[in-house]
Amino acid sequence: MLKFDVLAKDTSSHARRGTLTLNHGVVQTPIFMPVGTYGTVKGVMPRSLEEMGAQIILGNTFHLWMRPGLDVMQSFGGLHDFERWNKPILTDSGGFQVWSLGAMRKITEEGVTFASPVNGDKLFMSPEVSMQIQTTLNSDIVMQLDECTPYETKGHLTTEAEARKSMEMSRRWAVRSKDEFARLENPNALFGIVQGGMFTNLRQESLDALVEMNFPGYAVGGVSVGEPKDQMLEIMAHTPHRLPEHKPRYLMGVGTPEDLVQGVADGVDMFDCVMPTRNARNGTLFTRFGDLKIRNARHKADHGPLDSTCTCYTCAGHTRPDGTSSGGFSRAYLHHLDRCGEMLGPMLTTVHNLHYYLNLMREVREALEVGQFGAFRAKFKEDRARGV
Ligand code: GUN
Ligand code: ZN
Repeated sequence: MLKFDVLAKDTSSHARRGTLTLNHGVVQTPIFMPVGTYGTVKGVMPRSLEEMGAQIILGNTFHLWMRPGLDVMQSFGGLHDFERWNKPILTDSGGFQVWSLGAMRKITEEGVTFASPVNGDKLFMSPEVSMQIQTTLNSDIVMQLDECTPYETKGHLTTEAEARKSMEMSRRWAVRSKDEFARLENPNALFGIVQGGMFTNLRQESLDALVEMNFPGYAVGGVSVGEPKDQMLEIMAHTPHRLPEHKPRYLMGVGTPEDLVQGVADGVDMFDCVMPTRNARNGTLFTRFGDLKIRNARHKADHGPLDSTCTCYTCAGHTRPDGTSSGGFSRAYLHHLDRCGEMLGPMLTTVHNLHYYLNLMREVREALEVGQFGAFRAKFKEDRARGV
């Protein structure tokens, strides 16, 4: 089940504010979806995700198939109960992850054959297998199996002919995914994925074919795959707003805070990216006034928070039962935790980065509701350029 309502539209861009109703709840869009590859958003307890206002998180078909495997997933009735997250979950199909295996895999029309990175077993992923796994996971949003067309392979830029071949196979895999999803009587929602590399004519063809198939939602894949920024922006400007107006649009694997705000302007409703979680573990923090590297010696004795405007647990602390505030953590403390390799370091920085992304989208939604998205964008750019 999926229902999508557009509540408000910006007058000078393709941005829109909507609500997406799924089997496990309602999602306010535009939204950022934290990545929980192995059934966990790395280092973050689900209750913290709830506190931060996360509305939907990702899981990964490929990884969960490897470990713990389908028997365990089946015994829990899906991923929600296993990981104790009762809000919506979107799972990626495995296409992108299998593709990332590089030399380890062989892609044919039938599917992808590869050696398990866990125990070396020979495995086979097809559109049908991906739908079967995602049905067992009971994800609210299921992604079709696709082939993510690379930007380049060992220095060779993907040609239009190669991108066409790849896009056409993804299109056939969309048909097979849809047929198998229906056969399984999966009660959730299946998204088609637009491919076509850096070629807008191919993107248009892919989009037209998928729209014809009438999916309840659509994703734009094959971006942020090593291409120059201007080419990514070209695809973002081209594709999302051409998708059906009354269906959700998801830009896969993007991106920086600037990319998200641009994506919203281009008509995107949903984003996911490992950037806030991965960068947190590497000590790169996002703030209203630009990015900050906590490893930098200049933070060694700094009593200030990461971001004085942030209300996350890391920056603002929590209210104790007696009504007093614990106070937020200083840059000096976070710098110290990083130096010592303490577990609490990445836990606190991940909370902050995710809160930053989720709050950015909250601000975007509020601006759209009051018809102030243009002004919001200008202020966002100015603030981010100011520097921390
Ligand atoms: N994640 C980021 N890009 C892609 C893509 O093109 N396809 C899939 N399935 N997942 C992605
Ligand atoms: Zn914070």
